[in-house]
Amino acid sequence: MTKNQKLLNWVNEWAAICQPNNVYWCDGSEEENQRLLDEMVKSGQAVKLDDKKRPGSYAFNSDPSDVARVENRTFICSEKKEDAGPTNNWKAPAEMKAEMLEKYKGCMKGRTMYVIPFSMGPLGSNIAKIGIEITDSAYVVVNMRIMTRMGKAVLDVLGNDEFIPCIHSVGAPLEAGQKDVRWPCASNIDDKYISHFPETNEIWSFGSGYGGNALLGKKCLALRIASNMAKREGWLAEHMLIMGITNPKGEKKYIAAAFPSACGKTNLAMLIPTIPGYKVETVGDDIAWMKFDKDGVLRAINPEAGFFGVAPFTSEDTNPNAMHSADKNTIFTNVGVTPDGDIWWEGIGWDCPAGTITWKDKVYDPASGEPVAHPNARFTAPANQCPAVDPAWEDPAGVPISAILFGGRRPSTVPLVYQAFDWNHGTFMGSIVGSEVTAAAIGLKAGVRRDPFAMLPFCGYNMGDYFGHWVSIGKNAPDKSKLPLIFNVNWFRKSPEGKWLWPGYGDNIRVLGWIIERVLGNVEAVETPIGLLPKKEDINIEGLKGQAELMDALLEVDKNLWLDECELIAEHQAQFGESLPKEMKEQYEQLKARLA
Ligand code: OXD
Ligand code: MN
Repeated sequence: MTKNQKLLNWVNEWAAICQPNNVYWCDGSEEENQRLLDEMVKSGQAVKLDDKKRPGSYAFNSDPSDVARVENRTFICSEKKEDAGPTNNWKAPAEMKAEMLEKYKGCMKGRTMYVIPFSMGPLGSNIAKIGIEITDSAYVVVNMRIMTRMGKAVLDVLGNDEFIPCIHSVGAPLEAGQKDVRWPCASNIDDKYISHFPETNEIWSFGSGYGGNALLGKKCLALRIASNMAKREGWLAEHMLIMGITNPKGEKKYIAAAFPSACGKTNLAMLIPTIPGYKVETVGDDIAWMKFDKDGVLRAINPEAGFFGVAPFTSEDTNPNAMHSADKNTIFTNVGVTPDGDIWWEGIGWDCPAGTITWKDKVYDPASGEPVAHPNARFTAPANQCPAVDPAWEDPAGVPISAILFGGRRPSTVPLVYQAFDWNHGTFMGSIVGSEVTAAAIGLKAGVRRDPFAMLPFCGYNMGDYFGHWVSIGKNAPDKSKLPLIFNVNWFRKSPEGKWLWPGYGDNIRVLGWIIERVLGNVEAVETPIGLLPKKEDINIEGLKGQAELMDALLEVDKNLWLDECELIAEHQAQFGESLPKEMKEQYEQLKARLA
């Protein structure tokens, strides 16, 4: 398959450590994919869904202990602890490697070692990066085939060049004659490790077979390792959706947007506008890699090739484009399987058929109070199946970004939308992204849980230095007049009585419409202490009953609430100590001064 000696040596070394039954190089072909899926159906690991209802689709259930990313077992192993910063778990590389090598010894006994060549980004694009994942999970192989460009073609492009080595094992060797379980993984949480070595661009994962813990191209490579490469090389690797918006005059602009989990990022990426004349097209729903082109325009690519979307509450109402992306050739994990061979989850939009088998393999019993699908159940679907996929979604040159959005769940304080005065102010806005939590959530202090740039679990180095990198991108921009405008949006503001003030979903186009007009220079804004707000009459609320009366509350900037917010921001900034860039301190002081 390859003459790349470094790659061959690396695979041999790991085969000697992990001691698999055999080593298999994935070619990415249809035939190979079908064979692996058939084998998993035969062994009981997968269920083939009905070919009329969900052609080419399969359902898997994980072990109940292995259902999500394990943030407390995710490590950034830089030589110096301060380079991982206050928001990451850290261990010295040599110590971590010694500890994990003990785990990897013989860990693939009785299993096949798959070698998966994959490209994050269109094959051959100069923005793309090639990784090789070694894994003992066929489930990982078939998911990586959807989420990345995978197989022999990648090795052809790689030639003798460098690759990003990613090693993964579910951590469940089989003794001779031992029967496999349906979802092998390390049962003890302390035996799971998702380790990153940013100085040597390596990823070592052990013990989990689920999502971002195991599909190493996504969060591990395209965010944690790539954020380090981006800092070294002067570009941005971000936890952002990318979408194209065309206004009724036919003018098209692309935006990128970062939101913490559970803020509807995938829904926004695939929004269906409620006002006529607008069109939204999806480039990506999770990750953006952005670089300046030779004309000084910041351009973005989606390094992924598929969606790994949260299934529950995805429906024809909330996100028809996501639903149709998963019509066929899709892998479902931890959803219910109906007696007629289709899938079901909470909030899918129809009643659960009797006899549905839940993600825990039980017959659905409404009286039990147990959910049919796990709340973090997922669909893995090819991006090119999205009915609204952007024509340029695979353009190796990327799409030009005109605006960057941040947002979180903020029932109070933060208005529907406001624009940053300039790049550093926008960086400050990104650095204070967060969602409000109530004291009702176990173990959490009421207040705002900050998730800067929605990168808290994904920034592969010191978050303070990351803010500094954003400042330097603005400072070193080849043409500052071409920098994207930066906005903060908040779909989640509530009245003091606890009622939503904004309908959200497809109506968010009304806010995006204003943002596009700002980009085009067609509309004035109102200057406030926190940033530039729309004039009430510039947000199109035609056809929204009762909305007019809510607009004042929705756009209100209450100075007292913002002074309280400043205290929380000061606390948040304090954790970064010396690594907090002086520009961020200045932004804080300036905000306070404007509020005084
Ligand atoms: C994701 C996440 O799964 O951000 O995309 O957790
Ligand atoms: Mn994400």
